[in-house]
Amino acid sequence: MDPRANAPSSIVEWTEAEKYQNSFLIHEQDDTLELILENSINHGLPSHMPVSAGEGKFLNLLIKCLGVKRVLEVGTLGGYSAIWMARAIPEDGKLVTLELSETYAQVAKENIAQAGFGDKCQIIIGPADETMTSLRPDIPFDMVFIDADKKSYPKYFREAKRLVKKGGVIIVDNVIRYGNVHDKSVNDENTVGIRKLLADLKEDSRKGEIEATTIPTVGEKGFDGFLYAIKK
Ligand code: DHB
Ligand code: MG
Repeated sequence: MDPRANAPSSIVEWTEAEKYQNSFLIHEQDDTLELILENSINHGLPSHMPVSAGEGKFLNLLIKCLGVKRVLEVGTLGGYSAIWMARAIPEDGKLVTLELSETYAQVAKENIAQAGFGDKCQIIIGPADETMTSLRPDIPFDMVFIDADKKSYPKYFREAKRLVKKGGVIIVDNVIRYGNVHDKSVNDENTVGIRKLLADLKEDSRKGEIEATTIPTVGEKGFDGFLYAIKK
């Protein structure tokens, strides 16, 4: 039988497929992470926006295998991805995470402290493009994770290139956005922002500044993708 004939096509089935994988592989989605997700929802934060457990663990593994010590995150939300990353960052490392909403930042602060990473993580409140522009770190970041408003992705990526070390990694969430990005009939500002980022990346790659690839994903968060880039 051609296995493609039985391919699931709904988010319900994709979620089941993902849960099945997680049941074997992810033991770290423990009480702490469940509690902080619950706390975020109780404070009115959107439940469809945090990374999935699989993506959180992927970020965690990347940090471990690349020996990453300093991470910049753009878009804290309730701190779920920050906690996944903080769990992998060594004691002498640091996570700086940027959040526009004071409410979200307050919830994230509680959640991150609850998980035991209050000292390892610094939340900076304000528009991330302005915060990023003002950052002048003594030591560049080893990794940047961009997961905020999509309309500003081109700006965030431009600043991320400045703030990350040579050979450092920039990960961008949601670059497929339910299959909207390649569909020219969809022109909301977020989709257009991701499209512009891809056009910029084409230029960066032509100039030999960046190498990048997108890993498309389907699962509990629908059809989307992670973009993985290295600064050359
Ligand atoms: C949305 C934003 C995200 O970062 C995400 O992972 C999923 C959805 C949104 O804006 O709807
Ligand atoms: Mg996202």
